[in-house]
Amino acid sequence: METPTMKPDTVLILDYGSQYTHLITRRIRSLNVFSLVISGTSSLKSITSYNPRVVILSGGPHSVHALDAPSFPDGFMEWAESNGVPVLGICYGLQLIVQKLGGVVVEGESKEYGKMEIEVKGKSEIFGSESGGEKQMVWMSHGDEAVKLPEGFEIVAQSAQGAVAALENSKKKIYGLQYHPEVTHSPKGMETLRHFLFDVCKLSADWKMEDLMEEEIKVINKTVASDEHVICALSGGVDSTVAATLVHKAIGDRLHCIFVDNGLLRYKEQERVMDTFERDLHLPVTCVDASERFLSELKGVVDPETKRKIIGREFINIFDQFAQELEKKHGKKPAFLVQGTLYPDVIESCPPPGTDRTHSHTIKSHHNVGGLPKDMKLKLIEPLKLLFKDEVRELGKILNVPVGFLKRHPFPGPGLAVRVLGDVTQGNALEVLRQVDEIFIQSIRDAGLYDSIWQAFAVFLPVRSVGVQGDKRTHSHVVALRAVTSQDGMTADWYNFEHKFLDDVSRKICNSVQGVNRVVLDITSKPPSTIEWE
Ligand code: XMP
Repeated sequence: METPTMKPDTVLILDYGSQYTHLITRRIRSLNVFSLVISGTSSLKSITSYNPRVVILSGGPHSVHALDAPSFPDGFMEWAESNGVPVLGICYGLQLIVQKLGGVVVEGESKEYGKMEIEVKGKSEIFGSESGGEKQMVWMSHGDEAVKLPEGFEIVAQSAQGAVAALENSKKKIYGLQYHPEVTHSPKGMETLRHFLFDVCKLSADWKMEDLMEEEIKVINKTVASDEHVICALSGGVDSTVAATLVHKAIGDRLHCIFVDNGLLRYKEQERVMDTFERDLHLPVTCVDASERFLSELKGVVDPETKRKIIGREFINIFDQFAQELEKKHGKKPAFLVQGTLYPDVIESCPPPGTDRTHSHTIKSHHNVGGLPKDMKLKLIEPLKLLFKDEVRELGKILNVPVGFLKRHPFPGPGLAVRVLGDVTQGNALEVLRQVDEIFIQSIRDAGLYDSIWQAFAVFLPVRSVGVQGDKRTHSHVVALRAVTSQDGMTADWYNFEHKFLDDVSRKICNSVQGVNRVVLDITSKPPSTIEWE
């Protein structure tokens, strides 16, 4: 990742692969201090280029004794000391400090996992304690243990089993916590982090989303010359919308957005999304109605992967055509493409032990529809690449993106094609699904449940079952309802609706949607299922 141009007080986190590393960053940002994660094995040049005020060494699944144990570069501690940059090691980070500075870490006799009580042992900077004696519950997760500290270090807290829970060398401003202060299972963890950042490290809480926005606008204006054009494919989702709105604020109508109606959108979705873009955001958007083209290519296609490929290919063709039209109109090829890439997609992490991977810089591809034609040679503008999802929503609010829009549930790029099982052009499947989905989602909104659910939708099954409606035997379709709770879509659990809610929804669907006589509820988590059905 490039070095960001902005230079607020930065807390740099060297990542050693802990599942909680991102959480540390988010916790620190929530205290209005800017924080970034880079790989734990980054070079000294790369670390110092961020000009950090504080460096945190994260936890990680490795043992410091492993042959390939990741570590900070030679000269790092000397650089930190001579520049007055405090260093805090968390879990593996603490053990790394101990081992690298001449102490001893051994495999613990009894491994410590889960909640544990620790006690502050005496005067301590990191706990802001004068005489010790304070006890607190913390979340531990480690196998190795520091048994001999490097010179100049003191144990400042111990676990109930006598293991080192915290240490410090206040003269050199090096600190270590064997537990995870960033997780909610360490109830006083945030207090400790706050005390560390503001009282020990003397940082100021002056990082604001508005600053980041202004800075990004400056960067975009510097990058895009005044006669150059930029394109952006809007999906109707939060990330591309916020990214486009920000770029539009910077370069105005030299941004050209395209929204493709692929015939696989939800009930009135084209109108609803275009309304938001044009009426609320004044974004210049070309809406291309390509439904016939997509649906004719999808005719007879049953295999889900083939469906996705066809959709991806058609998107690219339309996009290419759009770029050519812009070139004709403005006499110049568009030079840049806006993408709503988020921070979790660009962070370089230490790979888990035992995998043969080196550090990866992987952009998730499985959810992006297709790629871009190679010969378009567009340079990327990714104005959200330092932000987490909730921060994108915050930025969206500042940019006046309607809150209702910012809270929309995710919707897959291939749209209803992954919610109609089998051939999407068979019978009236898409229309039936639109109506069922609308009733389900509206009922969820009416019940005040929309924001407590990560994603909800209906699925059209290509099977018919027997029913009886108005004294007549029917042979109609089955639809399934799916609603899940999740943090990030990687794992999910099914949402537990009340009996009355389900009863009402099912009745409404069967009474008002022709061609459906049976409604079933999906009660599987991910894994073993996925969220979408295809
Ligand atoms: P799964 O179904 O893989 O989905 O459990 C996890 C999350 O990703 C969304 N999803 C997609 N989004 N294109 C997208 O833009 C896709 O092909 C796609 N497939 C799944 C899904 O809706 C859920 O939020």
